[in-house]
Amino acid sequence: MKTSLKNRSDLDTPCLVLDLDILETNLRKMQAAVHSAGKNLRPHAKTHKCSSLARKQKEAGAIGICAAKVSEAEALVKAGLRGILITGPVPTPGKIKRLIDILAMDPSLMTVLDHRGCVDRLNAALGERGLSMDVLLDVDVGLHRTGVKPSEAIELAEYILSRENLHLRGIQAYAGQVQHIPSFDRRKIASHQCLQEAVPIFRELQSRLETCTIFSASGTGTFDIDLSVPEVTELQVGSYACMDVEYLDIGSAEDDRQFTPFGPALRLLTTVVSTNQRGFVTVDAGLKSLYRDGGTPRIFGSEYSGMTYHWFGDEYGMVTCPDNIEIPPIGTILELVTSHCDPTINLFDRFHLIRGTEVVGVWPIDLRGCSQ
Ligand SMILES: Cc1ncc(COP(=O)(O)O)c(C=O)c1O
Repeated sequence: MKTSLKNRSDLDTPCLVLDLDILETNLRKMQAAVHSAGKNLRPHAKTHKCSSLARKQKEAGAIGICAAKVSEAEALVKAGLRGILITGPVPTPGKIKRLIDILAMDPSLMTVLDHRGCVDRLNAALGERGLSMDVLLDVDVGLHRTGVKPSEAIELAEYILSRENLHLRGIQAYAGQVQHIPSFDRRKIASHQCLQEAVPIFRELQSRLETCTIFSASGTGTFDIDLSVPEVTELQVGSYACMDVEYLDIGSAEDDRQFTPFGPALRLLTTVVSTNQRGFVTVDAGLKSLYRDGGTPRIFGSEYSGMTYHWFGDEYGMVTCPDNIEIPPIGTILELVTSHCDPTINLFDRFHLIRGTEVVGVWPIDLRGCSQ
């Protein structure tokens, strides 16, 4: 989408910008890492909630896109994206109906299953519509949020195999609980331990069934670690595209104090609106535009380095300035790296696309609010 605004300083704040140079580098680096490990990338749209960005990920080489919820999948399929995997349970009749409506538009749609009741409901609903569907077995490797216990996984897989309208294509093993472990070495050990719980299950299914070819796993924090697990066939990483403080602050293979592989493509612009106090200014972005999770937003850019954002209510933030830095005057636009990108993005309708200081376009956050 084109925009009439030409410069970053023309944007009204608070608003989200995507720095295309950093975004494109992030997408290229992840795709290259996955490709050189001989694996596939099906990035998660739960992070960015944007079909235009999902399309860019596919153009960069992704085989499909993950969705957290049925309504996200609906929006992605309606936007023409294919190869969608829904990574969470679809347990109720209303949602199953919506799922099958999407399947009718996109036969490549997949979902995960972790319970006999869901297997039965989905199989019966597919039968009534004369359809069948590819599914993955969701294996709980320690997050305990969804997924079948590893000790019960083969039994559930056999149950799925006995249902006429379901085609078991493999497994999902998402270890969300290890993604932000600060130490790279500890994260590596933890992620390997988790995935090793799923490996024998995948091997067993592979040995029984030629069509069981998918082992989907990983998040941004363990992408390079999980690429070294031979059985993993594809990554379902999300945050790497936009990035946030929560991720930038964990260690990486190169540097145990910061996460170096990906840069902060997503930033929130906020304006200085009051300068009447000593030592700090008030900016126009608070809890209603920055989701309070994952730490504190961070000032971006060397010009203002040394300044610190603090939570200051619903509509405002406080930015403290050390004595050696001149207080920015009213009207100054500051850029913040958000503390947790996913829920912050879900507060906005659009990304403004920038190259340097130039505004070059707009992408609607069209999956915003798709939480059903
Ligand atoms: C099931 C699932 N897969 C993948 C991801 C992507 O993880 P990340 O944003 O850490 O890359 C998430 C994120 O919460 C998730 O819930």
